[in-house]
Amino acid sequence: MIIVKTEYELQIMRECGRIMAELLNLLADMVKPGVKTCELDRFAEEFILSKGCKPAFKGYRGYPATLCVSVDNEVIHGIPSDRKLHEGEIVSIDVGIFYKGYCTDAARTYRVGKVDTKRNKLIQVTYEALQRAIKVAVPGKRLGDISREIYNYVRSHGFDVVREFTGHGVGKFLHEDPMIPNYVPYKWQNLRLQRYMTLAIEPMVVAGKPNVYVKDDNWTVVTKDNEPAAHFEDTVVVNNHPEVLTADSLIDSPP
Ligand code: CO
Repeated sequence: MIIVKTEYELQIMRECGRIMAELLNLLADMVKPGVKTCELDRFAEEFILSKGCKPAFKGYRGYPATLCVSVDNEVIHGIPSDRKLHEGEIVSIDVGIFYKGYCTDAARTYRVGKVDTKRNKLIQVTYEALQRAIKVAVPGKRLGDISREIYNYVRSHGFDVVREFTGHGVGKFLHEDPMIPNYVPYKWQNLRLQRYMTLAIEPMVVAGKPNVYVKDDNWTVVTKDNEPAAHFEDTVVVNNHPEVLTADSLIDSPP
């Protein structure tokens, strides 16, 4: 069941999204060679709690942390650990925040120092795929239009999308209907978008083959060919001018 939000609910989600944007920008500055992924996680958890919010991932299906920190060939759901970031890697940070009973979900892929051309392009293409998909989140369009926008853009740049994981509705729950695949066709692609649906759109893009597996930790999703992956996600309100809740134009800059 797809839940369309009220203006009042959107106000709460907007506040939640502003806190998210602030956190993402602080995390961006912390991503440097030598930083442990658990240090990012600890910072994020303390920040979220200090704002009167709650981490949305911690405890979700037993997930143990506030952030998902996925390094290089890890696509999503990397568990923060003692692992240090190294120059040349890319790192995807995914975070969910609950505020006054409502959730926003967002992710960014950052460069650790200088990265090679392939990784630079991967980040740019994934970011741009999300920006293009956001522009399609208008009433009257179909869910599949979002997916097709992502898929076509990514494929036209020589990269591919992961099939096993999708975007999703978000609000009172971290995951609501509908699922939003990053490819077409699929069963629900003809669903009409309605004003005030809130969608977590999240292209997961790989430089090599789209095949992935889950590591022994039962969470970390890794590319089979060990090629790098990137992940951008924003929580978006469907409207004539789609509203991005988890980015603030004043503080959030393109990668
Ligand atoms: Co999500």
